[in-house]
Amino acid sequence: MPSGAAIETDTRQAAMAGVPRHVAIIMDGNGRWAKSHGLPRFEGHRRGAEAVRRSVTAAHELGIEALTLYSFSSENWSRPETEIGELMGLLKRFIRSDLRDLHAKNVRLRIIGEGHPTDSEVQALLDEAQELTRSNTGVKLTVAFNYGSRNEIARAAQQLARQVADGVLRPEDITPERFSDALDTAGLPPLDLVIRTSGEQRLSNFLLWQAAYAELVFLPVFWPDFDRDWMERALAEYGRRERRFGGVEASGS
Ligand code: IPE
Ligand code: IPE
Ligand code: MG
Repeated sequence: MPSGAAIETDTRQAAMAGVPRHVAIIMDGNGRWAKSHGLPRFEGHRRGAEAVRRSVTAAHELGIEALTLYSFSSENWSRPETEIGELMGLLKRFIRSDLRDLHAKNVRLRIIGEGHPTDSEVQALLDEAQELTRSNTGVKLTVAFNYGSRNEIARAAQQLARQVADGVLRPEDITPERFSDALDTAGLPPLDLVIRTSGEQRLSNFLLWQAAYAELVFLPVFWPDFDRDWMERALAEYGRRERRFGGVEASGS
């Protein structure tokens, strides 16, 4: 990968070519991929980790500035304990094996959500990954882990309510902008595109606030088969959309 300065230039050129600045992906379909191949669900998750690598490389190559991946939802704790254990094991393995490489590629890693308050090993790895890559200027890779959008919004409301209670903020100062700044995604570019793989067409508690004017693209591919080609298809679909933000058609009359 080129240097940070070169990546910034790539990103500017990409924006001019209609490439979304911020893409979020609901990485779904690992279990169904495994089933369709006669394999255990774990194998789907393991192959899903390889698709994560491909998606980061594709984001870089295509000039996407920020990539946000939904890796584990606050509702996923309702899965069988063995599957949760396997997912945590894969996350640990992924950070251990890929962190240095991501850092070398100038990727800035950030975790949103509530982390893992009860598994100090997972939490320490997440902290280390963020700390190591803090000053990087390449792809902004955000991993939503133990993340739920309603929970994120409630936490932001609590934070602002505390400031009001402390007398440092007036209720009327709570604008959409200030609210956005209290969310986990503060500082990331506006969300342009949400991709969901596996054919399901729902947000499953992902980036509800941020997706207010994002384009939604649902791909008929299970996550373990996702690659640059699928990313390009999603970007092509995005390019065909006309974003109006409540206005009128660009062509007028
Ligand atoms: C996505 O694949 C991975 C996680 C939600 C952690 P799934 O495990 O949801 O796969 P399906 O939806 O059962 O096929
Ligand atoms: C959404 O997928 C969560 C992640 C991809 C991490 P799920 O498979 O958990 O969503 P539902 O249950 O089908 O809505
Ligand atoms: Mg699923």
